[in-house]
Amino acid sequence: MKTLIAANWKMNGDLSWTAKPAQFAAEMENCDSALSDKIETIICPPQYMLSPTAQAAGVVETAFTIQIGAQDCHFEEQGAFTGEMSAQMVRDAGANYTIIGHSERRAMFGDTDEVVAKKLRAAQSVGLTAILCVGESKEIREQGQADEVVGAQLLAALGANVGESSVATDRLVIAYEPIWAIGTGLVPTLEDIAAMHDHIRGVLSNLFDENTARNIAILYGGSVKPSNAAEILSLSDVNGALIGGASLKMDSLAAIAKSVQ
Ligand code: PGA
Repeated sequence: MKTLIAANWKMNGDLSWTAKPAQFAAEMENCDSALSDKIETIICPPQYMLSPTAQAAGVVETAFTIQIGAQDCHFEEQGAFTGEMSAQMVRDAGANYTIIGHSERRAMFGDTDEVVAKKLRAAQSVGLTAILCVGESKEIREQGQADEVVGAQLLAALGANVGESSVATDRLVIAYEPIWAIGTGLVPTLEDIAAMHDHIRGVLSNLFDENTARNIAILYGGSVKPSNAAEILSLSDVNGALIGGASLKMDSLAAIAKSVQ
């Protein structure tokens, strides 16, 4: 399985940022060529930049795979949903991935478990790979209920019956993002990250089967930066990272990508 280096730009950037895929490729130019087989980079710009960024990434000459992802999509195919973009629109714009259920969307934009489950299926139905975010608050961790809450989020998004459609496990990535670690500089201990990823793998095994669970990438997200990426990415059940702040500059994103062993 390739290590996924996913850049979540959130609401940052402007059209000049379409130069960033080329900048990233330039930063990676002198790397050992074996690294290009080990990693896949996914850039998730704001919606209006999806298409130009995808076009720009498409013409970059590099051995490294640079994919484009959205940060969200709506679950309906079309209609009166002012300000929204459907999964098919995201796909048409050139994305292969979309983040679903980021904690900022859950906290600020009403993305309930039910909405997240619907969005995940809508994304997968048009061929997008969904990066499903789960993670606990600081209070929940302090109460010792992080496993339970993350397990419930997974079950709600993946186990629920949503219409006729079931989850496509080959188009599924999980991102474990403890809310208290996002944008704060705080990071769980390596033991806690490893334990949660092991727990998530177990929940996926129960939901699907062991072999399927083994093939679903589980990313860690929350204050990943060049100085801590190598140790986090070396954990056995960590298959990549979802990076916010440290993904806005290409030297920093490349430094994280280069830390993959
Ligand atoms: P951060 O954000 O790297 O700035 O903590 C991660 C995320 O929200 O995906």
